[in-house]
Amino acid sequence: MRAPVPELFHKMRQSDRPGTPDRRSPSGRESTRFEETYRSMVQRGRETLAERGHGQVRPDGCPARPWAGRACRRPLRARRRWSSIPSRRAAAAVSKETANVNVKRVLVTGGAGYIGSVLVRQLLERGHSVCALDALLFGDHALRDEYGRPGFDFLHADVRNPESYASALADAQAVVHLAAIVGDAAAAKSPRLTHETNLVGSEALFQRAQDAPDVRRFVFVSTCSNYGRMEGVEYCSEESPLKPLSLYAETKVEFEGRLLNSDTRGDFVPTALRFATAYGLSPRMRFDLTVNEFTREAALGRELLIYGEQFWRPHCHVHDLARACLCVLESAPSKVDHEVFNVGDTAENYTKKQLAELLLEFRPQARIRYVTREEDPRDYKVRFDKIRDILGFEIARNVGDGIAEILEALASGAFPDPEADRYRNS
Ligand SMILES: NC(=O)c1ccc[n+]([C@@H]2O[C@H](COP(=O)([O-])OP(=O)(O)OC[C@H]3O[C@@H](n4cnc5c(N)ncnc54)[C@H](O)[C@@H]3O)[C@@H](O)[C@H]2O)c1
Repeated sequence: MRAPVPELFHKMRQSDRPGTPDRRSPSGRESTRFEETYRSMVQRGRETLAERGHGQVRPDGCPARPWAGRACRRPLRARRRWSSIPSRRAAAAVSKETANVNVKRVLVTGGAGYIGSVLVRQLLERGHSVCALDALLFGDHALRDEYGRPGFDFLHADVRNPESYASALADAQAVVHLAAIVGDAAAAKSPRLTHETNLVGSEALFQRAQDAPDVRRFVFVSTCSNYGRMEGVEYCSEESPLKPLSLYAETKVEFEGRLLNSDTRGDFVPTALRFATAYGLSPRMRFDLTVNEFTREAALGRELLIYGEQFWRPHCHVHDLARACLCVLESAPSKVDHEVFNVGDTAENYTKKQLAELLLEFRPQARIRYVTREEDPRDYKVRFDKIRDILGFEIARNVGDGIAEILEALASGAFPDPEADRYRNS
């Protein structure tokens, strides 16, 4: 069951946080078990890679060479693609690029969400202080373990109500704007809420951020869904025409355009990021994303029905998407001011059939049935050269890593009910 959008907004105190961890309640137990699994995976990855001397392991637990030492069988094509992921040299280049940290406090809207809850942890580990703002449409499970952590605040607020977050903006030097009604299906179900949140709310936040004298960075998280469908080209890039094919993408395209064409204060630097489709473990898990859903179905021993196996999409690990926000925040303003970047890796464009074949490498017994579908409005392959060439950003994980970690988490019992409503957006 989803929590309703709250009518009252207040800065959370220890005593009135919704769902303050109750270790005796089923959800409290689940949250704790997940956090343990999540942390132990990050830690185990660090130790294994460090022992084997393979590459660097960053503070967020992302190994620079995540494929190193993996024992599972993989197709040659996939192996070749994975070996294109950067090693120690590239990771060092990223940290050099991002060394100039002058943003102290970051306001993360949608901080309790799938991507936001990962970003919040990365920012804290990186030494920033963070205010996570969220209307808690899916509860606060993802942030419960962070309550009380030094440098962390949670604000139960709604981006549609500027008064509810005025004090948080006054304290911040940067905003990462993730809060939204996310996904075509969720947006189609609540068109008015989507318009008010994704467009009207975003515009108000953007304006208020410019009015706040200390806020200098504004990172808006948009989506590669904006490309809709490739026509006459092999790949879409930042210069390609946008063809939003859903209300969700329309609202993203519209606000993105306003942000990029805005005439802002001289020291105010807005940036838009078009994220590839996310996958991987997050404290607010989503099993309605393609890779995560395919993996869950295979783990549950279900027949996987795949509609339109020939259609392309780019995919990117949730940890890498969050890292891209950090990378932008810490990059020189001249490189990111009024710029848009696709976030992902060109080698991580997959058809649904290729994803299924990769899954079979991990679960050879998985049953897969392809259902012919000639028409899917969304069909796009994306290039990610700009963010690599200008910001030095490269991914540290790939779809194979995501499948492996989700299978492991499901096998460990971290999700007693992986089909629960709160793991999906619609
Ligand atoms: N997940 C993906 O594959 C993907 C891909 C491309 C872009 N994005 C973008 O990334 C962002 C985060 O996506 P996600 O996957 O973490 O989704 P999510 O649904 O898990 O997170 C969105 C968060 O926003 C909050 N929210 C919604 N309406 C709000 C409001 N009015 N005020 C305050 N908070 C509100 C929700 O409670 C939720 O916690 C979104 O902007 C989305 O468009 C996601």
